[in-house]
Amino acid sequence: MSATADPRHVAIIMDGNGRWAKARGLPRVMGHREGVKALKRTVEAAPRFGIECLTVFGFSTENWSRPAAEVSELMGLVRNYLSSDLDRMEREGVRLRVLGRREGLPEDVKAIITRAEARTAHNRQFLLQVAFNYGGRADIVAAARRYAEKLASGDVTAQLDEAEFAQGLSSAGAPDVDLIIRTSGEQRLSNFLLWEAAYAEFVFQDTLWPDYGEAALGEAVDTFRRRERRFGGVEARDVMAAG
Ligand code: IPE
Ligand code: IPE
Ligand code: MG
Repeated sequence: MSATADPRHVAIIMDGNGRWAKARGLPRVMGHREGVKALKRTVEAAPRFGIECLTVFGFSTENWSRPAAEVSELMGLVRNYLSSDLDRMEREGVRLRVLGRREGLPEDVKAIITRAEARTAHNRQFLLQVAFNYGGRADIVAAARRYAEKLASGDVTAQLDEAEFAQGLSSAGAPDVDLIIRTSGEQRLSNFLLWEAAYAEFVFQDTLWPDYGEAALGEAVDTFRRRERRFGGVEARDVMAAG
């Protein structure tokens, strides 16, 4: 079997904050706070595994259905993370991008996102994408709308193809997703990166997100490296081999 290279782009569904807190008799918000620490550890560890781009799921379009106090805590955490971690991102050459819809977010969160993206836009060492108020279906619909607008303004003449369509997704320009990790034992996409997941490998880990860090990421990358990726083709050495 051919050895698979390092994953360039890893995407993580950070799940299990609530269960982590419940197991300790703590309120769910404590799990989310610990989850931010796990995120910082994981972002720091990622380049050590050859990862160039990390996309994390922070808040889904479906997460608005949670109790208002929890939603408000999650808004507070993103506010804090995108302000307090900017210096480190700057130092380490991290470019930050937020995927998803801006509409519906509190005005100050929108402003913080715009500022953080602008301040790190020139960084080239590492791309960190935070999916926040993100849903894969909504993102695909937004891309379709953008294409229709371009078409109406006479901006595009060529026939629509995959590359042109993908320009309208909020992840446009990022490398293809190689590996999708979901923590906490759940095995579903929950509307994450529907288009981008087309040829990603999936690794499901039982670790609850607040316990995540370099060791768990290393295990996921090792599992990925043992996978054989065929992209619909056949291994070169199997082409001539008899049955
Ligand atoms: C993931 O943890 C974080 C977000 C969805 C924001 P959960 O809050 O989903 O934790 P569980 O699944 O209830 O344990
Ligand atoms: C997906 O997790 C969203 C994020 C990790 C931000 P959920 O915990 O919200 O997903 P479900 O409800 O288990 O599908
Ligand atoms: Mg969950």
